[in-house]
Amino acid sequence: MKVEGLIFDLDGVIVDTAKYHYLAWKELAKELGFDFSEKDNERLKGVSRMQSLDILLEVGKIELPDEKKQELAEKKNRQYVAMIKKMTPDELLPGALNFLKSAKAKGYKTALGSASKNAMIILNRLEIAGLFDVIIDGTKVSKAKPDPEVFLAGAKALNIKAENCVVFEDAAAGVEAAHNGNMFCIGIGTPENLPDADFLISGFGKFTINDFEELIKQ
Ligand code: BG6
Ligand code: MG
Repeated sequence: MKVEGLIFDLDGVIVDTAKYHYLAWKELAKELGFDFSEKDNERLKGVSRMQSLDILLEVGKIELPDEKKQELAEKKNRQYVAMIKKMTPDELLPGALNFLKSAKAKGYKTALGSASKNAMIILNRLEIAGLFDVIIDGTKVSKAKPDPEVFLAGAKALNIKAENCVVFEDAAAGVEAAHNGNMFCIGIGTPENLPDADFLISGFGKFTINDFEELIKQ
């Protein structure tokens, strides 16, 4: 496989922001009068903010007009942003920084491909914005994963063909998005949650750029 570009999802791949999303959604559910479990939260991974709210309301069996939903999504986001604004570089997932730096040193082009509209805040807090040649986040795309828009936009901005890009994803919708864009996808997770990934790793703690190069040699 000829690989020139690496495209990274953010939440769950480079940083564990799921815990902050969860706290903010759980608080909202509490205000609405129901409990939102960690298991329910799994369904929100990789899913856009408004779709996440729809899932949450489905769990609580609540129907609301669009205007009210907009208001609640904004409320949740204010809480979430207050938390991520306090993040520090030590919240990078194990091995992620080293993998990104060594990928750049080896000459790969790197892109961020995230559904989050808050990606820039996180990248700046973690001090890693400069490690990406291209940043495509939720403010730049209109179609949510599993639509491949975010990854195709990344490949295009890198000026690399989709088939020469590899995507790193922790969400099933993201693996599907990569495949819909004709890209090889390395899943960060387990065979249970990511059965369709082309290769699975538990994270970058035990997967170095050398392991990556061995893999794509095959
Ligand atoms: C994804 C997360 O990266 O971003 C989802 O996995 C989240 O859980 C989505 O809903 C949108 O994030 P934000 O920051 O725009 O609300
Ligand atoms: Mg993710």
